[in-house]
Amino acid sequence: MNATRCVWILSIIICVARGHVGNDIGQNQKEQDTSADNSTESLSLVTAANREFAFRLYRSLAANPDSQGKNIFFSPVSVSVALAALAVGARGETHRQLFRGLVFNSTWLSQTDVDQAFQSLFEKTKKASNEVTSEGTAVFMDNLFKPQPEFLDTLKKSYFADGFNVDFTKSSESANTINKYVEEKTSGKIDKLVESLDPTTVMYLISYIFFKGKWETPFDPDLTKEDLFMVDEKTKIPVQMMNIEKRFETYRDQMFNTSVLHLPFNSSHSMLLLLPDDMAKLENAISAAHVTK
Ligand SMILES: *[C@@H]1O[C@H](CO)[C@@H](O)[C@H](O)[C@H]1NC(C)=O
Ligand SMILES: *[C@@H]1O[C@H](CO)[C@@H](O)[C@H](O)[C@H]1NC(C)=O
Ligand SMILES: *[C@@H]1O[C@H](CO)[C@@H](O)[C@H](O)[C@H]1NC(C)=O
Ligand SMILES: *[C@@H]1O[C@H](CO)[C@@H](O)[C@H](O)[C@H]1NC(C)=O
Repeated sequence: MNATRCVWILSIIICVARGHVGNDIGQNQKEQDTSADNSTESLSLVTAANREFAFRLYRSLAANPDSQGKNIFFSPVSVSVALAALAVGARGETHRQLFRGLVFNSTWLSQTDVDQAFQSLFEKTKKASNEVTSEGTAVFMDNLFKPQPEFLDTLKKSYFADGFNVDFTKSSESANTINKYVEEKTSGKIDKLVESLDPTTVMYLISYIFFKGKWETPFDPDLTKEDLFMVDEKTKIPVQMMNIEKRFETYRDQMFNTSVLHLPFNSSHSMLLLLPDDMAKLENAISAAHVTK
């Protein structure tokens, strides 16, 4: 295998019953533009917040009873992007809660700062990567729900988000529209994101990432053979394992008794594999600061 494919998809359903919309979402309010000369600072604040959010989200997913003994697969930055895009249209307490959840400190960051920071992040990652990467956000809105044009403009400009109108009362038709869109954007990898939609849905916000990278040092497919994989301390299962002999960067973290392997892609991206002696200890304590060191 000389390529790894990861498709991360995340969907956030905003299922607001008709009639409850309006107070907090989509109202018109001009944000003061104070950020022209300090966009670099906003960018680093937003990046740091996204990192912190990623580990908080991981901890809360890992602690969830439903994920015990299962794999957790998620793209934290996609969640940050989707919620930050949602915050564009939010006001009042809703906006405060979104910012708090995203670890954005409103003393230092306005929504405009956040929008611009994401815009420059997207522009940077688009330039930097030579893999087949596709990521984006889309908003599907019910025909009866009229968002403010400023909301859609900001989504398009800063979050590169597409906006569509659908009729959610026709739930299989609207599900088809969403599934077709995602199928096209993920090169056919995900063809059924939604099964059926609640007919009272007014807005459906999706965020997708498609990533296909080549290893810097490809694995030889002839060396792939079956071996035993320990799912946990007691369970061993046979799986096909890739094999390679080469020098790679490794690191032994003494604080968490964890071995780290750095597998670079043929680009600026890499995969970090962490093998802890004690999973729970690592899960409870790992933070952005540990990964950057
Ligand atoms: C940007 O500048 C304005 C005005 O000088 C200030 O109020 C705001 O806090 C600054 N934002 C950041 C992220 O530094
Ligand atoms: C935001 O920053 C201010 C000033 O540094 C600090 O006093 C406040 O506690 C911060 N708020 C949060 C929620 O971290
Ligand atoms: C790491 O392993 C060593 C040796 O087995 C042990 O003494 C130490 O307590 C462990 N540290 C942690 C944080 O588990
Ligand atoms: C890595 O990328 C470079 C240029 O981007 C290309 O020439 C090279 O063949 C690639 N190597 C592999 C192993 O794909």
